[in-house]
Amino acid sequence: MEKSLELNNGRKIPLLGLGTWKSAPGEVKSAVKEAIRVGYRHIDCAYFYGNEKEVGEALSECIKENICTREDLFVTSKLWNSFHEEADVLPALEISLKNLQLDYLDMYLIHWPVVEEKGSSFGNLKFRSLEEVPLASTWKGMESAVKEGKAKGIGVSNFSVKKLKSLLESSEIPPAVNQVERHPYLQQPKLMEFCSANKIHLTCYSPLGSTDRPESFKDPNDPKLMEDSVIVSIAKKHSITPAQVILKWAMQTNTSTIPKSVNPGRIAQNLQATTEPILDADDLSALAALNRNARFVRGDFWTNVSGSPYTLENLWDGE
Ligand code: A2P
Repeated sequence: MEKSLELNNGRKIPLLGLGTWKSAPGEVKSAVKEAIRVGYRHIDCAYFYGNEKEVGEALSECIKENICTREDLFVTSKLWNSFHEEADVLPALEISLKNLQLDYLDMYLIHWPVVEEKGSSFGNLKFRSLEEVPLASTWKGMESAVKEGKAKGIGVSNFSVKKLKSLLESSEIPPAVNQVERHPYLQQPKLMEFCSANKIHLTCYSPLGSTDRPESFKDPNDPKLMEDSVIVSIAKKHSITPAQVILKWAMQTNTSTIPKSVNPGRIAQNLQATTEPILDADDLSALAALNRNARFVRGDFWTNVSGSPYTLENLWDGE
């Protein structure tokens, strides 16, 4: 099975990475150290996760202990919504670099196509519109991160085909990655086709259905991805786990995937998904039939605030 793919900037991204969203600061350091120790080389981070300092301690210790070199690692972080002004991008990136104890990132992503005022936070959200702070101007700041050598690659997250198209038209450096929610219940065929045609790599977040997402994100009617009978029966057929079926599906459909775990057994299990067996054509077509447009991270936290310029329609562009 392919373990990494080349991005449009000529650098390689390992297809299996460790997610750190929802990993508590007290747990994430040991999780990252354990992951690197067993062979992970791709770590997905973000300023907003509030745990980059602990991730940085883990990275620095692994490098000092010769478990890996900096060059072996592929580290991603993300620009938060309150730093979208062009002039704010590099200072925001510097904060993540300092926390992560790194000189450069392998990938820096615009976290959401949403702009918040400085000082805005959940419970007291204050927005600015994309007309006031256009994504094209944020992207100029992202491009300067590459020119300054602070990020080897840049990309976006939660972008629709419509937003990607418009970014491609105005950009000097095209986005290398779009990180979006993707799993067998939300297969994103339109985005997959567009990204493939335009050499934008797609990374799947919440690949396992993010069962530990905040309560406010949950709906009693949400389907239970890992209990799906088709996924469970494919897992039984190959003597692997449902999580491994989902991760293999992501990699065999040419996307990278970043399952979050702070549990050593599950960290190892998820990495094992990069090895034999591979899913066969019957498995892949049974999984393809599971698509049902079910989003676990709906983005309604940006839209259900009175006065917000964001709606579900203009966030996802109806895609
Ligand atoms: P834990 O951190 O205790 O392992 P996602 O990556 O979609 O956000 O999902 C993360 C959730 O899935 C966490 O609750 C995580 O728990 C759990 N998880 C991670 N790996 C596995 C696995 N192999 N089997 C079952 N649950 C898993």
